[in-house]
Amino acid sequence: MSSELPTPGPIVILTGAGISKESGLDTFRDKDGIWARHSLEEVATPEGFARDPAKVHAFYNARRRQLAEPDLAPNPGHLALAKLEAEWPHPVLVVTQNIDNLHERAGTTHLLHMHGELTKVRCTACDAVLEWPGDLEVSTACPACARVGTLRPHIVWFGEIPLHMEEIDAALSACSLFLSIGTSGNVYPAAGFVHMVRSLGRAHSVELNLEPSQGASLFAETIHGPASQVVPAYVERLLAGLSDA
Ligand code: APR
Repeated sequence: MSSELPTPGPIVILTGAGISKESGLDTFRDKDGIWARHSLEEVATPEGFARDPAKVHAFYNARRRQLAEPDLAPNPGHLALAKLEAEWPHPVLVVTQNIDNLHERAGTTHLLHMHGELTKVRCTACDAVLEWPGDLEVSTACPACARVGTLRPHIVWFGEIPLHMEEIDAALSACSLFLSIGTSGNVYPAAGFVHMVRSLGRAHSVELNLEPSQGASLFAETIHGPASQVVPAYVERLLAGLSDA
């Protein structure tokens, strides 16, 4: 397994729920994860929303309220990625599967939310996408078109197409380093990014995760430990490599 530092160039970083775990947000598939307590089919599919929109709203309202809790904050993993973007001499793109806003709160600006954002809602009638800090109810009228019952969380559910895929594919094709942080590698297309990077053969790939993920063997290098420790350490290694070059 190669632990060589790559030649400095563009970096793409895929993040998942594991990077936000130490900020106090639950992951999905760990023993105590969200899918151990909620039915994915009921709260994270278009069919579930059609059957019981109030249940789906209650699920996302609770998670949206967590983002507003005073002690919720980015952890050293998020902060290290913002530092990397600020100090790396080439483009750094964070592609997150997370719907929380901890990367932006840490200072990351070059960021794509491929599974949507908890702090936004979308109108299924007029397609308006609106900032939404509070609760959403079935009876809420769309502020853009005034229709009632047409707003939904701006979240990509199972069976729907992730956002920003063209931009993500272009960045993956051009990068010289691909990092995958805090994701179990169960959900496509994100789980397939490492295959794409490998097949192009241009980028070094590194997994940083608490434990080996589903696709760990596909990465050129794997580093296992809590994101709040392994991510800052890896970022410091990259930045130190710049001055050695
Ligand atoms: N530091 C690093 N990694 C961690 C930490 C931590 N402190 N805690 C947990 N992990 C790892 C777990 O070992 C696991 O491999 O994070 C990973 C989280 O995996 P999942 O719960 O499957 O989350 P994720 O991969 O982001 O899920 C992908 O699935 O349900 C959907 O749409 C949802 O975006 C989500 C997608």
